[in-house]
Amino acid sequence: MQSLQNQTVLVTGVTGEVGWGLAHAARDAGARLVLPVRREEQVAALEAEFGEGALVRAVGFTDEATLQGLRDEAVARFGRLNHVFAPLGAWWAKGASLEQSPDEFRALQDVYVEAPWQLLRAMAPALRDSTGSFTFITGAGGEAPFIPRSGLLVAAVAAQIALARTLRHELVREPFRVNEVRISARLERQPRPGVVPSREAGETFLSLVTSDARGTLFRYGPDRALVASAER
Ligand SMILES: NC(=O)c1ccc[n+]([C@@H]2O[C@H](COP(=O)([O-])OP(=O)(O)OC[C@H]3O[C@@H](n4cnc5c(N)ncnc54)[C@H](OP(=O)(O)O)[C@@H]3O)[C@@H](O)[C@H]2O)c1
Repeated sequence: MQSLQNQTVLVTGVTGEVGWGLAHAARDAGARLVLPVRREEQVAALEAEFGEGALVRAVGFTDEATLQGLRDEAVARFGRLNHVFAPLGAWWAKGASLEQSPDEFRALQDVYVEAPWQLLRAMAPALRDSTGSFTFITGAGGEAPFIPRSGLLVAAVAAQIALARTLRHELVREPFRVNEVRISARLERQPRPGVVPSREAGETFLSLVTSDARGTLFRYGPDRALVASAER
């Protein structure tokens, strides 16, 4: 695996499946880690798991000030922020779309759409300085015409995909690179039949750090290959 020595990598969703695999793969490659989580009580266990060198902080993922504070702290501590990987948001299957409350609707839009937009917006100045990269992690579920009991999730992930597509194109001339990995496999921390271990997937996704891909959609499926898609 490539070395990420002297690279600072921010990974969201580290308490979940995809982010956990990415963060472990990045740490194993020698990266300095920045790990935003949403609750203060998650911090100590993650500091123990990833070591004292990791910068673990509770932030509001739709709160501009805390995200900017994390960016500034990361740059002050590590010198620069090189790369951001943004898997965020849990599976959701709570039932019929019109039976949900407006709060439920907004919560899904917050985590799938506003959070990655806010994250990129806050981190962009640091990524400009480092000429690094930002990688959206999305799910092919957002391309499904319909998933029973998960309609609002499909709508939120479809909106996330549209956001990622927009920003891949809009920011194509930035000093930093914006790409998207759209997953159609099942990724989990522990290996089991039919599942890709998320640490292995994380190693594969981290190849984007040294690639020159820019504005590109990559697909990642059960064959475990990261394939640039012709789809724009
Ligand atoms: N795993 C897969 O097989 C797979 C397949 C296709 C696409 N994806 C995509 O990958 C991303 C992550 O999936 P995952 O399987 O890792 O999910 P997961 O295991 O359920 O983890 C979700 C992560 O997002 C965080 N999160 C959830 N809601 C949040 C909110 N409102 N604010 C801030 N953080 C929040 C969770 O933090 P807490 O611990 O605080 O809840 C956790 O770290 C999703 O966007 C998903 O669509 C995953």
